[in-house]
Amino acid sequence: MNVGAVAGLRIFVTGGAGYIGSICVEELLDAGCQVTVFDNLSEGHRAAVDARAELIVGDLLDEVVLGKALAATRPDGVIHFAASALVGESMRTPEKYFRNNVVAGVNLLDAMVRIGVKRLVFSSSCATYGLPAAIPVGESNPQAPINPYGTSKLMFEQMLRWYEQAHGIISVGLRFFNVAGASIRHGEDHRIETHLIPNVLRVALGQRDHVEIFGTDYATPDGTCLRDYVHVLDVAAAHLAALTATGSGFYNLGNGAGYSVGEVITCCRRITGHPIPTVARPRREGDPACLVADSGKFKSAFGWQPLRADLAEMVASAWAWHQRQPHGYQDVFSIGSIAPGTPHRQLATTHHHESCHQTG
Ligand SMILES: NC(=O)c1ccc[n+]([C@@H]2O[C@H](COP(=O)([O-])OP(=O)(O)OC[C@H]3O[C@@H](n4cnc5c(N)ncnc54)[C@H](O)[C@@H]3O)[C@@H](O)[C@H]2O)c1
Repeated sequence: MNVGAVAGLRIFVTGGAGYIGSICVEELLDAGCQVTVFDNLSEGHRAAVDARAELIVGDLLDEVVLGKALAATRPDGVIHFAASALVGESMRTPEKYFRNNVVAGVNLLDAMVRIGVKRLVFSSSCATYGLPAAIPVGESNPQAPINPYGTSKLMFEQMLRWYEQAHGIISVGLRFFNVAGASIRHGEDHRIETHLIPNVLRVALGQRDHVEIFGTDYATPDGTCLRDYVHVLDVAAAHLAALTATGSGFYNLGNGAGYSVGEVITCCRRITGHPIPTVARPRREGDPACLVADSGKFKSAFGWQPLRADLAEMVASAWAWHQRQPHGYQDVFSIGSIAPGTPHRQLATTHHHESCHQTG
């Protein structure tokens, strides 16, 4: 994609202090965009926000703060990463997911309507498909989520169609599969980590004894689940491309290659030089044997290609970041220490993390 196409755009990024959001913000800035991050730091990190961006600490559920932030920014477009995204938690507390992923989403769309912002890129998920009927998963697969998280993402997708019809908001919904890897400065530091690669790397860092493998008797070459991992920088590039959309649409975003849990662990062993012991556990309910994306629709619409499709490149970039910041980001201020909605510039981020402990 020609990055010049987005140069000069003002972009409002919800969830821009989180894993994928922070790296997308970095890429937007490098492409010449002006970026405002809106994040309540419930899961994200102040230090993950690029110093060139404006950070507004606020909650999408607070309509007043959100409305003021959007009105002050008057963006050309919004990228909406903010969400609650833990499948297991969503089974126990569905209300949190419908509030944070659906109600908060309505607040965002309504604020956009009031101010006249007509462009949105939304982080959806392969969880909207549930147990897919066909592999690779194309957009024609029926969407039948099997948990509240997937349902909440699908509900927001469905709302987008009507906000376009009634209010002319052009939206691109990107259904991510497994996002992995890091940029030089930003990486994956979820407070509760459920993703395979960072959890395997924690063993290599000596922070855990072993990694658990859930299910070793699937009908896959090595008996472990196959998943589609796509590099976070390729995901960020997809967002820049999606900002140039001339019409609305929903697209799968993945690598198109499946890697088994066993292959990921072997790759991590090779890159880290650590034996990474494993413990076999029974299958988890609702885990399909294989989840691989067909991203053909997005590729042909936007000319996007995953440029870092090799698993080793994803693991190596994540490992480099985790080695530099073994305890993740340093959260300099506590969440409540600045009044909600207060814009402020960020302090420089990366160099002071090494000796600090992750908070939260
Ligand atoms: N990580 C993946 O592999 C993956 C896969 C599929 C879909 N997704 C989707 O991509 C998006 C980003 O994922 P991530 O891994 O970067 O998650 P993340 O938790 O690192 O980032 C989400 C950010 O949103 C913020 N946030 C949450 N609720 C908010 C609210 N009410 N108001 C303001 N800010 C709020 C959090 O503080 C956090 O910084 C999510 O929508 C997720 O559902 C991620």
